[in-house]
Amino acid sequence: MTLPNKQELARSLALSRCLQQEIQQQKAISFARFMELALYHPDFGYYFADTIDIGRQGDFITAPEISPLFAQCIAKQVSQIKTELQEGSVLELGAGTGRLASDLLLELDKLKSLPHHYYIYEISPALRRKQQELLKNTVPAYFSRIIWLDSLPANFTGIILANEVLDALPAHRFVIEDRKIWEQSVIGNDGVFNWQLTAPHAKLHEKVQALCERHHLSSGYISEINLHLPPFIQQLAAALDQGVILLIDYGYGQAEYYHPERQSGTLACFYQHRQSDPLILPGTQDITTHVDFTAVIENAADYGCELAGYTSQAAFLLACGLMEMAGRASVELSIQDEFHLHQAIKTLTLPTEMGERIKVMALSKNIEQTLLGFSMHDRRRDL
Ligand SMILES: C[S@@+](CC[C@H](N)C(=O)[O-])C[C@H]1O[C@@H](n2cnc3c(N)ncnc32)[C@H](O)[C@@H]1O
Repeated sequence: MTLPNKQELARSLALSRCLQQEIQQQKAISFARFMELALYHPDFGYYFADTIDIGRQGDFITAPEISPLFAQCIAKQVSQIKTELQEGSVLELGAGTGRLASDLLLELDKLKSLPHHYYIYEISPALRRKQQELLKNTVPAYFSRIIWLDSLPANFTGIILANEVLDALPAHRFVIEDRKIWEQSVIGNDGVFNWQLTAPHAKLHEKVQALCERHHLSSGYISEINLHLPPFIQQLAAALDQGVILLIDYGYGQAEYYHPERQSGTLACFYQHRQSDPLILPGTQDITTHVDFTAVIENAADYGCELAGYTSQAAFLLACGLMEMAGRASVELSIQDEFHLHQAIKTLTLPTEMGERIKVMALSKNIEQTLLGFSMHDRRRDL
């Protein structure tokens, strides 16, 4: 493991000063605000750094970076949905390095299902530049179809995709102690940050109280709740006229998320693929929490979406033909590349890796067909 270099340490120090300033003004800040600044501060946030990298050289790896087979499976699903749409575009949220967009466009062309427009909505200017660079090189023939948006569109027809975006939305932490709800806030001194229990504001209290009653949470229970998720999902659902929102992320249905035995929540922080403390060196490491998929469908339903599918990543990829595609790909490979292909399939599908921990949810509007990716294992009852 290498330590952050001088430049990264200087950014982190500057970010610590900003955090410290807010903490001084308010005595303590919510963890959601800490996470928001650590990841998205316009000058010093993790996702806004020019050095941000996703993949083996970065701090964490996502499915599109593991193998193009992931995008090829998504392409099968997108292509099926497009048959029901007069003119369907694709809108990808938080496109990372641009790898999914690149592999997806290549495969959609093979399937004779290229969208007229491939929109990307990405909040990080640094990642937007990376995406443009990569896509200009890898898919020059389709580059003119790719349009970067500054805000979500209205009246969208097509497929909205988000891989590991919801788990990057800032979440609040809470603790139940002596039958009381506390917020786990953040305090700091001289750039050293610590947890501090504070009284939650009314909305947070009300939401956590509802969770306590639904799931019988008792003293000692620590978890998180994402108050940024409902408006985000509502906005997406409202934007969709016809089509499907495909959400792929680490997460659970609510009963599993707030299971009494999950005593310490799902907050995780990564530095060079190792778990780390989210309160140290802000801006140099990724922070995530799992997605409450029950909250996702509840909010989407309020804006007219139907739950068209919910399953594990493994079941989704297998239903889209992962093994057949892998079989075809392996014919031309050397023994070493075939070994790498098998490793990639394991990472994408094994229950202890991404296969079960990542879920796929489809929210639809005005779509009749049964979606291919959910035909193997319907998990909607888990929500
Ligand atoms: C964990 S990365 C995943 C990147 C990519 N989807 C992948 O699978 O490799 C999270 C991505 O979501 C973006 N992001 C975070 N919050 C966002 C928001 N509110 N709207 C759009 N993009 C967002 C980040 O900048 C980043 O590109």
